[in-house]
Amino acid sequence: MNATHTPRIFSGIQPSGGLTLGNYLGALKRFAEYQDSGLETIYCLVDLHALTVWQDPAALIEQTREAAAAFMAAGVDPARSILFNQSQVPAHAELSWLLSCVARVGWMDRMTQFKDKGGKDRERVSLALYAYPALMAADILVYHATAVPVGEDQKQHLELTRDIAAKFNHDYGVDFFPITNPLIEGAATRVMSLRDGSKKMSKSDPSDASRINLTDDADTIAQKIRKARTDADPLPGSMEGLKDRPEARNLVNIYAALSGEGTDQVLARFEGQGFGAFKPALAEVAVAVLAPITSRMTELKSDPAEIDRILGDGAERAEAIARPIVERTKEIMGMIRSRG
Ligand code: TYM
Repeated sequence: MNATHTPRIFSGIQPSGGLTLGNYLGALKRFAEYQDSGLETIYCLVDLHALTVWQDPAALIEQTREAAAAFMAAGVDPARSILFNQSQVPAHAELSWLLSCVARVGWMDRMTQFKDKGGKDRERVSLALYAYPALMAADILVYHATAVPVGEDQKQHLELTRDIAAKFNHDYGVDFFPITNPLIEGAATRVMSLRDGSKKMSKSDPSDASRINLTDDADTIAQKIRKARTDADPLPGSMEGLKDRPEARNLVNIYAALSGEGTDQVLARFEGQGFGAFKPALAEVAVAVLAPITSRMTELKSDPAEIDRILGDGAERAEAIARPIVERTKEIMGMIRSRG
């Protein structure tokens, strides 16, 4: 079905707090790499998604600029990619409503991320937190994006996006929306918390020691890695030996993703050694990769007007693609389009 659609990459990140090493390895780093794929790349700071939980308005503006700086510092080039914040392109919210009319409540009920985030407080969270995956589907489909690079935790939302596209096409007898492919690749599709190998590294974890922030300085990074939870056994020669050692496996995956080596290569080098040797080596690789990104972010953040200009320019380019698609969707669904 995708044969009729021009290949196009879209992805987004919530500016709901500082970005982490998980966001970098699972998403940002790969966003930059896809710029060399020859495909059009569209990257979005999804500020409307961030609003699903209360955000201090002044802080949200700062976080959005900081996230934009992180994208660029990680290699996303606004001349080669479209980089913008979601709320400046109204077509996202418009298509979200239209797709909410296609998505089924039963599908939303199965979303594990809502169950995790809503938890026992389900009755008191915002309606938008529940409807959120329909907005995410709209983000993707409003560009007819065919591929979406994300971390493992977004897989279910992308399956939902496919279901929504297929149901729309079926219900209206069209081949209009592409069936998007998730791109979940590499050693770090699920970076885990440094304090608990069963939880993903997250910007919303109350413990700052659980994550490496893209704003952390070299000493903080080294200290967090030194204190990361591990076990007392030496490293084995292959990943198979780390099956039941989630914390150790996580650190090896992080090392491999940062250094660009395979996990087996990393283990071949450290086989038989304990974390006393491995952790300082990991800290060194982490600082070598992250320090230039952090310092570039600081430079970029010192000119907020330039960041805003870049986001505005990106939004105009995004709008030019999204507007005709949302208009055509309305036509397909039977809405009169008679404005001059
Ligand atoms: P968000 O903001 O939670 O995360 C942004 C991206 O970072 C990835 N990621 C991770 N990858 C590996 N290990 C981790 N610990 C880790 N934590 C986060 C996420 O998988 C994601 O790729 N709903 C999305 C944002 C979104 C979106 C979209 C994404 C809105 N619309 C359309 C793609 C396409 C989210 O909350 O991601």
